[in-house]
Formats: sequence, structure tokens, C-alpha cells
Amino acid sequence: MKTDKNISFTYKEFDKDEELDPSDLELLSSARKVASNAYAPYSKFMVGAAVRLESGKIITGANVENVAFPSGICAERAALSNASSNYPGDRPIALAIAAYTEKEHSGEPISPCGSCRQVIAEEEYRNGKNIRIILGGKNKIRIIESVRDLLPLQFNGDSLKVNLR
Ligand code: THU
Repeated sequence: MKTDKNISFTYKEFDKDEELDPSDLELLSSARKVASNAYAPYSKFMVGAAVRLESGKIITGANVENVAFPSGICAERAALSNASSNYPGDRPIALAIAAYTEKEHSGEPISPCGSCRQVIAEEEYRNGKNIRIILGGKNKIRIIESVRDLLPLQFNGDSLKVNLR
């Protein structure tokens, strides 16, 4: 029998930094700041990401490009790898992302690429904890409660268990 299914999600949108919780604004400010450390000579698109750990620590990362383009890494994966490598067991609870291009921060928020969504999904899965995603533009900020909303019907550890049955 054919059934039509629908997936929708709700996220929050703000138009001013001051409307954010102070800890979210602190995280977003860290992401904006670290964007200036990006190595992006090819795209000139500098991205910063900041991860908030359960302990309250903030761990950051920026995109690092490579002349062999696929060898570059996005800011989100740089930050999450940094956090996982240096603070194992301290679970990520939020991730802020900001982009800097053409001499200013982007007005519109940017959203993580597909590979980064998959990596964020792995972090949520392994830790059993949602990661709030804060997408920060200068004129608009979006907050999404879990990467499940950005990557529905995702392939994760549960999918492997299903296949083994
Ligand atoms: N990039 C990120 O670091 N994060 C994103 O969310 C989108 C894209 C990087 C990859 C590449 O270095 C540059 O931005 C242009 O795609």
C-alpha cells in the first residue's frame, strides 16, 4: 500500500544578535572570530565553527583548503575533530557556524554541507545527545535543535543494526 509521508521541522530565527541567549551569542562570536584563521586561498570563503562542550568549554575550527580540492576540510569538521581528539567524553551540545567573505561576515547564515551534516549526525549518535546548530549571519540567525532536522532519514549506527538482522 502506498502512503505519502511528510517530514517537517521547526527552527528559530532571530534578526539581531542581542536576541540570542548569552551563551549562544558567546559561541557564535567564537565562530565569527575563528573564521579569520581560515586558510581559504581558493574559494576566499572563510568559515568558522565553534563547539560548546557539556563542560562549558568552547572548541573552534576553521576551514583549511588544499590545492587538491577534496583534501580540504570544512570548519565544522575541523572543530568537531578538535573537540573529539582533545576532550573525549566531553559531549558537544551546540555548534555555531559563521562565514566571512568579501571583507565582511555574511548577512545570511550559511548551512553545513552534506558531509558535515553526516559528521554532526555521528557525534549526536555516539553521544546520545542533540547538538543545537546555530547558523549565524549578520542579519539573520537560525537555531536548529538537532542535525536530524537537517539530515532526516539519516544513515547512522542504527541503520547497520537493521541491516544485520
Ligand atoms: N565550507 C565550510 O567550511 N563550511 C560550510 O558549512 C560550507 C563550506 C568551506 C569549504 C570550502 O573551504 C569553502 O567553505 C567553500 O566551499
